Amino acid sequence: MLNAVSSAALLGAVAVSANPLAYGPLNGWGGSPSSSWGNGASATISSYGAGQTPFKFPLSNGFPNVSNDTLRQIEQTAQGTLPNGPPVTHLNTTSITIFELIAFNELFEVAFFSSLINNITSNYEGFGIGSSVLKDFVLKSLDAVLAQEELHNLGANGILANAGQDKIEPCEYVFPTASFDDAIALARTFTDLVLGTLQDAQAGLNGDGDGEFIPLLGAVQGQEGEQNGFYRELINLIPSAAPFLTRSAAPFAFSALNQNFIVKGTCPGPANALLFKSLPIFGVLNVETKNIALADQTLTFSVTTPSSASDVASWKVVYINQQNVPVVEAITNVQVSNGVATFDAFFPAETLLMNALTISAVTHGADTFATVSEVAAATLFGPGLIEIN
Ligand SMILES: *[C@@H]1O[C@H](CO)[C@@H](O)[C@H](O)[C@H]1NC(C)=O
Ligand SMILES: *[C@@H]1O[C@H](CO)[C@@H](O)[C@H](O)[C@H]1NC(C)=O
Ligand SMILES: *[C@@H]1O[C@H](CO)[C@@H](O)[C@H](O)[C@H]1NC(C)=O
Ligand SMILES: *[C@@H]1O[C@H](CO)[C@@H](O)[C@H](O)[C@H]1NC(C)=O
Repeated sequence: MLNAVSSAALLGAVAVSANPLAYGPLNGWGGSPSSSWGNGASATISSYGAGQTPFKFPLSNGFPNVSNDTLRQIEQTAQGTLPNGPPVTHLNTTSITIFELIAFNELFEVAFFSSLINNITSNYEGFGIGSSVLKDFVLKSLDAVLAQEELHNLGANGILANAGQDKIEPCEYVFPTASFDDAIALARTFTDLVLGTLQDAQAGLNGDGDGEFIPLLGAVQGQEGEQNGFYRELINLIPSAAPFLTRSAAPFAFSALNQNFIVKGTCPGPANALLFKSLPIFGVLNVETKNIALADQTLTFSVTTPSSASDVASWKVVYINQQNVPVVEAITNVQVSNGVATFDAFFPAETLLMNALTISAVTHGADTFATVSEVAAATLFGPGLIEIN
């Protein structure tokens, strides 16, 4: 689903020789801002569907710049307030990157839910909901989600500002969805990725000596989990996906946002944000096999790469699911044509009960990985997002 527009993304600079030690062992939050990964912004979307108009801020209420009166209205719709404790005036480097990524991601989510609410309200083709009771319920729920996401963004940007950092400004966005069902399925997938990335953020805050923020992220994580139960029910899935949700790492979330939703060259930054300096944007990994069921099977993938078939065959496909050790599989059946490599890898979905989100990645170097951040540090292409049940 998330990869639906990935083929439109240009892959210019896969950092094959990048230093896999740029990431610490505990989490995926960039090592030093001068990391050799740099800003691989060439992977962002440069073309999108004809007739699609990029979503631009500000919202009609002025968001992300809101008056006190508007903030009060947002809080009323969100059914609660921004945390009102005393400001924390110092953040260590990793923690700055964490709150920048949270603010960056929440801006995308605000854009997405604003667009979705508008489409439903306007009865756009594919977005009409016939039952007025159901339509009211969906809109009431999504209006609260939108306001809650606005507060998540304002909260993260406020934490940055209190610590003397510039706020993250919105980019322009496109969405690969053209129907209500597709949009809800996409919301479920990107929320799953957020739920995994917030795990990484909590580990990062702990490792950076800023553990006082961990409960706040736990509060956001539970909130996003409530949302996701709603999205899952709307597409006829049971509300809770798995006993332990899938772990992610910051570079996978940052790459997915840039590969799928952000119009190339439209992020104003700020340029000094650590986010843009320390997190990589991987090459796009297309999962060519569609409608993947819970069965042991061989999946087909593709990537755009100047590498030879024998180089590609030396890489691995890695699957991250739930809280289990990453699964590493050999690449087989490599075909290279016009700069696109297509290849297969086994996927032991049934054996390992890989329900919920699986993050797939193409890596180089190691044959085994103990942690998700080790996978991220060796990733060339990803994330390929697979959802089962
Ligand atoms: C919000 O306000 C800042 C500071 O005045 C300004 O630089 C920025 O462009 C505004 N953002 C939007 C989306 O209007
Ligand atoms: C908005 O609210 C904040 C916090 O209560 C206050 O410090 C500030 O003066 C208010 N701004 C205006 C324009 O009233
Ligand atoms: C809203 O509709 C427009 C026009 O059909 C479409 O391009 C966009 O992707 C839709 N938004 C969402 C969130 O699906
Ligand atoms: C975080 O910052 C504080 C205050 O500057 C410092 O005492 C502490 O050692 C830092 N922790 C880490 C892990 O860098």
